[in-house]
Formats: sequence, C-alpha cells, structure tokens
Amino acid sequence: MQKTREYISSNKERFLNELIDLLKIPSISADPEYADAVHQTADEVANNIKRAGADLVEVSETDGYPIVYGEKIVDPSWPTVLVYGHYDVQPADPIDLWDSPAFEPVIKKTELHPEGAIFARGACDDKGQMFMHVKAFEAMAASGELKCNVKFMIEGEEEVGSSNLATYVKENKEKLKADIILVSDTGMLANDVPSITTGLRGLSYVEVEVTGPNRDLHSGLYGGCVANPINILAKMIASLHDENNHITIPGFYDKVVELSDEERAEMAKAPFSKEAYCKSINIKDIYGESGYTTMERGSIRPTLDVNGIWGGYTGEGAKTVIPSKAYAKISMRLVPDQDPNEITKLFMDHFMAIAPDGVTVKVTPHHGGEPAVTPIDSVGYEAASKAYEKTFGKRPIPVRSGGSIPIVAMFEKELGLKTILMGFGLDSDAIHSPNEHYGLFNYYRGIETIPYFYHYFYEMNQ
Ligand code: BES
Ligand code: MN
Ligand code: MN
Repeated sequence: MQKTREYISSNKERFLNELIDLLKIPSISADPEYADAVHQTADEVANNIKRAGADLVEVSETDGYPIVYGEKIVDPSWPTVLVYGHYDVQPADPIDLWDSPAFEPVIKKTELHPEGAIFARGACDDKGQMFMHVKAFEAMAASGELKCNVKFMIEGEEEVGSSNLATYVKENKEKLKADIILVSDTGMLANDVPSITTGLRGLSYVEVEVTGPNRDLHSGLYGGCVANPINILAKMIASLHDENNHITIPGFYDKVVELSDEERAEMAKAPFSKEAYCKSINIKDIYGESGYTTMERGSIRPTLDVNGIWGGYTGEGAKTVIPSKAYAKISMRLVPDQDPNEITKLFMDHFMAIAPDGVTVKVTPHHGGEPAVTPIDSVGYEAASKAYEKTFGKRPIPVRSGGSIPIVAMFEKELGLKTILMGFGLDSDAIHSPNEHYGLFNYYRGIETIPYFYHYFYEMNQ
C-alpha cells in the first residue's frame, strides 16, 4: 500500500479542492427548486468516478433523482466491494444561523478540529464521506494496488427516504453482485477514539392533524366551551411518554430486543463524559428513559419525538383565537426487531383512540425504514477493524448508532449482503444543522483507511 499512501499524500490539495467544488452545488433533494442542482451533482459525481479510473459509469434515471453507478472490474476472481453513498443533502435552513453561506465552503479551525474543517452543507453528510471512497479508489487504481473489484452506487434521494433505490436494486441484482457493501455515512466516537458503527435505528414517521371547530373562533366567545385542537394535541403528545419516559403506545416495546448484561457492559466501555456532552450542546442536564445510560438511550432504545408542531396564530402581537386545526410531525426511532409498518399502525390506532370526541384526528404516515445490526465476527468487520488499527494505531470500538440509513436493511434483504459502516464524522459536526462541517483530519484519514480495508478484505478472502 506504499504507493497508494504516497499518491494520497502528493495529491492532498487537489483531493480537497475537488470536494470543495462538489460542495458548491446545492443538491437539496427535499426542495424541487433545486432539481437542476441535484441533477448537476449527479453528473459531477459520475465525472469524478470516471476520472478516478472506473471503466464503466452510468447516470441511471429513476422516477426521482438519478443513481450514479460506476465500476472497475480488475479480476473477476477477486472480491468485489460495493460502495454506497449519497450526493443529496439536507436543506440549509435555518440559513440565518450559518456563519458562512451553506454552499460557499470555507475552512476554519475548531476546538475538535485544530487542523481545520470544511464548513458547508453536505461536508460530512454525505458528500465529504462519499468522496473519500472516490479518492481512495483513484489512489489505489493509479498506484496499481487495487486488489478488489469496485462498484459505486451513489444515490440522490437518501435525505428524502430513498424511495427509488429499492426498485433500482431489485432490477439490477446481477449488476450489483458483490461480496460486501461499504458505506461511510455515519460517525466515530472521537478523532483519537476510532469506532465502527455496528447498528442503525429504524424509523417510523407520521404527521398528525387535529381538527376542532370548522373555523377559527373568537377565544372569548367560545373559549372554555369547545376543544381547542392545540391544547388537545399538546395533551395527547404529552401522554405518549409516562413519568419514566417510557413510550405509552400499547405494544410499542413488544418486539424490542433487550441486550444482555454482558452486551450492555461491553457498550459501557466506550468513553462518555456527561459534562462534555452537556457542554457541547449547552444543556444543564441529560434527560431520557429511566434505567438506561445516555449511550443506550441513543442507540439500543426506541424513541418518540415531535419534530415540528404548529397551528393557530403565530404572527406579530396577540390575536385572540381558538384555532380550527393543529399539526405535528412525529418521528419514532426503532430498534431491532421493531417493524416500521407495525409501529406506524400501533401509533395510528393509539392516537385515534386517545382523541376526545371534541376533535377529529388524521394521521398520515411518511417514509420509514428498518433498523439494522451488523455482526462483528465477519470477514468484512475484521478487515475494517484492521484497517483502522493500521491508520489510527488502535483497534476501533464497535458502536451502535442512533441514526438511520434505511437502505442497509433493504440491501441485506434484496442483495443478501452485509454492510460495513466505516463512518468518519463526529457527532459534533452538525449534520442537518447550520454550520455543518467535516474535519480535514477525518477526510484524509478516511481516504487513507479505506485502501487498507480493500487490502485486508482481499487478503482474508484468499
Ligand atoms: N447519514 C445520515 C444517518 C446517520 C448519521 C447515521 C450519523 C448514523 C450517524 C443519513 O443521511 C440521515 O440523515 N438519515 C436520516 C433518515 C432518512 C430516512 C431521512 C436520519 O437518520 O434522520
Ligand atoms: Mn447521510
Ligand atoms: Mn442525512
């Protein structure tokens, strides 16, 4: 891998500039106004994969945004790595809270990134992390040290539920044949505490609408006499957790897999500082389900959270009104073996059941996804673990993450393949938030670590 390493170190500047170019294109999949930019990003990703040394590159149209496919088959008898990533990004809102514009990348130093970090929407999630794979591939191909076949599948709808990816995967099973899937779209514990993500939570997402009277009413004339949909919605939402912060929906926990004491003890070995945690997000104390640590609450336990709530008068000054309607968006993060469709159904039934007669309730499900866990005794995990050991000088810790990448379970079902989640972001990188950034250390360390994965994966398959 010597030549690959040298290639990387002599092309560092260019690797960064190319990422910066990609970050300038606002590929916001959620907002149709940015459709052209999303398509342009797909083309740029394709060009980059081509330039990096792929023999075949396609931009496959779907009913939504295109999927970029690229491959290099070096030797059909060698193992094949399928790289998945996404080139779409979250909206930049609230834009006022960015210190510099979201699509004008700048490099600044931070406490956790003393070597500098790139500030831009998508820097970490997922353009920066996805691009590490393109650059690692380029370095290996250019050095003649690529010992696995590579297939890239980079989509543009991850942030909006990947609704066209399943169809693509189903229709291209032969083309996507591989031995392992490699994804960098998660995080690690700290720059000096490498970790590999071994689990992701699933997701059930609903929107609720509570309707009271047929029009907004004068709150003096009608106040006290009719159900106020906002009061009712607040009450209903509050009732979804009990005093121990357990979720009260009947059946919600029925399929939750409880970890053994040994597994929990193993998890507890990962370093965690409550003080640092609170300080980093400026809160006085942690909060959550009784009987579980913060690490557990955020990974092996399911949750229910309101993501947004609105209704009634929210303009300047005071308007005395009982609104006709109230709304909320609610997400539930799920753990094995909860099924998103079942949970959505349980939520719907329960939410309807607890509504008083003075209102009507409508629940609309949004996209969801299944949880996933990956074993740590597989060849893929071992290859990843050795790769981290090589570049970080320590064995990575297996950690289950609280986030969701629903396609991981889908890949397993459709392609029969396990995914290795080699994420290099930090929780503090502000993904989905204003001032998203990605450490230069993380970007380069990722580019250096990935080739070792290929190296060990090849060796261990011989
Ligand atoms: N890359 C994230 C997921 C993630 C981030 C997992 C950090 C673990 C650690 C992904 O782009 C994402 O944002 N997923 C969504 C779900 C999706 C269905 C919109 C999420 O987790 O909210
Ligand atoms: Mn992502
Ligand atoms: Mn995301």
